[in-house]
Amino acid sequence: MREAVSAQPERELPRIGCHTLPNRVILAPMAGVTDRPFRQLCRELGAGLVVSEMVTSDSRLWHTRKSRQRLIHRGEPGPRSVQIAGGDPQMLAEAARMNAAAGAEIIDINMGCPAKKVCNKAAGSALLRDERLVDDILTAVVAAVEIPVTLKIRTGWCEQTRNALRVARLAENAGIAALAVHGRTREQRYSGSAEYDTIAAIKQQVSIPVFANGDITTPQRAAEVLAHTGADAVMIGRGAQGNPWLFREIEHYLRTGREHPAPSLEEIEDTMRRHLTALHAHYGDYLGVRVARKHIGWYLASRDPRREHRARFNRLEQSAEQFAFLHELFRGDTAIDNGIHAA
Ligand SMILES: Cc1cc2nc3c(=O)[nH]c(=O)nc-3n(C[C@H](O)[C@H](O)[C@H](O)COP(=O)(O)O)c2cc1C
Repeated sequence: MREAVSAQPERELPRIGCHTLPNRVILAPMAGVTDRPFRQLCRELGAGLVVSEMVTSDSRLWHTRKSRQRLIHRGEPGPRSVQIAGGDPQMLAEAARMNAAAGAEIIDINMGCPAKKVCNKAAGSALLRDERLVDDILTAVVAAVEIPVTLKIRTGWCEQTRNALRVARLAENAGIAALAVHGRTREQRYSGSAEYDTIAAIKQQVSIPVFANGDITTPQRAAEVLAHTGADAVMIGRGAQGNPWLFREIEHYLRTGREHPAPSLEEIEDTMRRHLTALHAHYGDYLGVRVARKHIGWYLASRDPRREHRARFNRLEQSAEQFAFLHELFRGDTAIDNGIHAA
């Protein structure tokens, strides 16, 4: 890959239909991770766009708690991008309409997710094997809504059938407003490393904005990937788990070529506390306590090598206990000794 240089600040910022993004750093959709509290936090800390967790296109499942919680878009700052998943063009079109009516401002179609549950229903990245169906889906969804429709793909189904370039052209012809590409095939799942040559080739071929995704976990990496691919933005997934500061760090580096200072211990504590509060408020006490174990676990992952704190936190059953834990973590005499320091 070409040497890291900070991205050209003079380049036009990416546009998705009528929405101009404030910067080139996007939060990837991650089921079970990018819920409303996490999206809000990433936005506050510099993400130029956040994409919600996927909502199934099967409206018969929309009464479930999980779907209901994912379907509330109003009140969230814009532009609100909502991802839909499924394999049937008409069902996806209907899902797009319903989400637009519920406040979505961008519809994102999932053709990038390798999760079994989605793929067994021939959805997500499994769709990449059937280009005619891809075309039918894109055409139906774009026709169904007035708002822009974006697409997220992998580079193909497997090494032998890497058809992302053809799919990108299909997408552009179908009226897709922007394309996010994860630099792995479906078969690779999350193994190996993401490759960016295919993303560079796609960027050369289409004139819609292209977002590069896969294994971008540092500002320097973001700058390298943008330089190598010519992409309009980077999309960050796992690197943001327990590290929402990454967005401002990347944004700052791309804009100035200099590193943003790491968050102080005070800021880490304040962010974790606000995140915890938002999770309890969003999910209610019972579920909030459980969902928080995952997120707090990620914050601790790089700061708690012996996993002692994480194990303790996972045993807590009450929201008040979780707050008391944070207090102790940052103020107790043992906190620093136990390796709690800014990563
Ligand atoms: C826990 C998890 C859930 C994910 N859920 C979705 C999803 O719902 N829709 C989707 O398009 N991609 C999903 N992805 C894929 C991510 O959006 C992203 O493409 C992938 O993680 C690669 O980017 P990264 O290396 O920055 O994590 C998920 C990934 C993870 C780790």
